[in-house]
Amino acid sequence: MAKLKVAALISGRGSNLQALIDGCADGTIPAEIVLVISNNPDAAGLARARQAGIPTQVIDHRRFRDRAAFDAALDTALKASGAALICLAGFMRLLTRDFVETWRDRMINIHPSLLPAFPGLDTHARAIAGGHRFAGCTVHFVRFETDTGPIVVQARVPVRPDDTPETLASRVLEVEHKAYPLALRLLAEGRVRIEGERATVDAEPPDGFRLGDLPVPPVADRRSGALQSRPHPSPAEGNSNETGTETMVNHDDTHHRATYSGFIKLATISSIVVAIALGLMALFLL
Ligand code: GAR
Repeated sequence: MAKLKVAALISGRGSNLQALIDGCADGTIPAEIVLVISNNPDAAGLARARQAGIPTQVIDHRRFRDRAAFDAALDTALKASGAALICLAGFMRLLTRDFVETWRDRMINIHPSLLPAFPGLDTHARAIAGGHRFAGCTVHFVRFETDTGPIVVQARVPVRPDDTPETLASRVLEVEHKAYPLALRLLAEGRVRIEGERATVDAEPPDGFRLGDLPVPPVADRRSGALQSRPHPSPAEGNSNETGTETMVNHDDTHHRATYSGFIKLATISSIVVAIALGLMALFLL
């Protein structure tokens, strides 16, 4: 099978890039990193790429008059590389809508939270301040709104009572280094599909990982009786007891409640029909 050609965009340390490089090098991921671009000339990740013999390019955003011009330069370099997929690996620049649309469904990102909880910065401090029991990371397709898009892989870690943002960040980083190679492998193996802004993944998740977006169970709209979709819940949202798994259980509860109320309605109608029939029989016999 031909290897998926991948370009990575970085801004700093590049430890996630390293995890991808290692997975491609040891054959776990059927992909080849054909180019690493950094907007920051001092990014340590550039040395990691060079060490692995991967072509690198610095496209310093400070040299461009605006975001559109910077993104146009990125786009030109990426297209010239022949990459079919972009991996944002600690790339800390906002991208323009045009760029994101050009690479729609061909660009993924890793974010250090259980999205949709905590998009943006300071994710670990916010998870601790919010009293969440779990934190983690998300690999997702990139959409224009920051840190949104169909989810490929999520991995979670417990938040400990004595955690600081730094200790939590380092524990999350450990699972990032598993989640990103896993997501790239699944994509390179053609196991990921996007339908209606939700990703489904044809694979079994390892322990502590979740693959794809949660399915959206239909629920009855009380006013019209019509079926509606629910918004995508966060695995970390709500009170501190909620986890991804528990959220899925809540979905099942909703389904069971809807089934139960349907059963009650059916039983009531049946009882009325039986009562009328008995009444008619009684009249007839008298
Ligand atoms: C990682 O924790 C990654 O999730 C985060 O930056 C770090 C980069 O580390 N990315 C974002 O916050 C993007 N929203 P690395 O350079 O060692 O891979």
